Amino acid sequence: DKGTYPFFMLKEIDEQAIVARNLIEHYFVNGLPQIDEKILSAIKQADRLYIVAAGTSYHAALIGRRFFEKWAGISTEAHIASEFAYDHPLISKKPFFVFISQSGETADSIQVLDFIKKEHYPSLTLANVMNSTLTREADFALPILAGPEIAVASTKAYMAQILTQVILAAALAGGHDQLQAELSRLAIDLQTVIDGQDKIKELADTYLVHADRAFYIGRAADADVTLEAALKLKEISYTLVEGFAAGELKHGTISLIEQNTPVIALISQSKTAGLTRSNLEETMARGAKAMTIVTKNLASSDDDIILPALNGEMEMFGPILEAVPIQLLAYYTSLGRKLDVDHPRNLAKSVTVQ
Ligand code: F6R
Repeated sequence: DKGTYPFFMLKEIDEQAIVARNLIEHYFVNGLPQIDEKILSAIKQADRLYIVAAGTSYHAALIGRRFFEKWAGISTEAHIASEFAYDHPLISKKPFFVFISQSGETADSIQVLDFIKKEHYPSLTLANVMNSTLTREADFALPILAGPEIAVASTKAYMAQILTQVILAAALAGGHDQLQAELSRLAIDLQTVIDGQDKIKELADTYLVHADRAFYIGRAADADVTLEAALKLKEISYTLVEGFAAGELKHGTISLIEQNTPVIALISQSKTAGLTRSNLEETMARGAKAMTIVTKNLASSDDDIILPALNGEMEMFGPILEAVPIQLLAYYTSLGRKLDVDHPRNLAKSVTVQ
């Protein structure tokens, strides 16, 4: 039931702070992340993690990958399921496979699971729909607890997929004392961003509703988010959008920048913030209409969307806060074009064909 919401997508975006709190409540006991010891020991025996998923779930894998590497110290690769099924890289001696899916029924991912089972490789599925093909067929399964997601464009499931990976990575690392408090803080910050959506609607109206193309740029973890930002905007607003590492602009794409081309920069990583800003300035010198989405600790008063501050180690959570404005920009652009936000053309909620 949509309640008073015009579209499920907006309801589901708005639910994301609640989703974060539900995950904390489910996975933490006495301040520590609790994951089945069998799962943890199976993963700890691996020399490399392979995360396999499609679309938005693949984009969640790109974010999660960094937590498995930085916190748990396990080399981790994220793969597009439809590619891995027919063209996989050399697999390490002791791999462990993690499947990420909202529906648990994505044919591309099932194809990979069938293949790795024949090789007797161990696997875990993180899914929203439990008792689905991917949860039943994998050795282990964990719920991402987003609640029913109805809109075709995935929002709260993406959030829940990232957070579940964060919790799993922390459990693998054997603790991470402050995590429950940090995630609770993050849930409050998510609500702050959600509550600031009038400003985001205005920006969608002035920058995107009348644009036929747009670009998202970012570096490091922010570069991963540009892919999801672009996918969300293109799938429901039908704008031609590309998201990519900001440093790549000068290697080709900058030739597409014209007067008033929207370029949106995501900035939450201190090491690369200055570089992304200078790339953005290069596009402005060519007429781009630049928008910035920046965490407060890296922001100035000229920035457009200012997210709550993430200092020090907390910076790793940048992609989690950025998820909300990129979803809202897509939503309000689609709405501004009077499109059917929840049912974009040519798309199905669950893709059960290869
Ligand atoms: C985009 C979107 C899709 C799905 C993809 C995988 O908003 O929803 O890209 O993420 O089809 O689906 P699941 O997660 O069900 O495996």
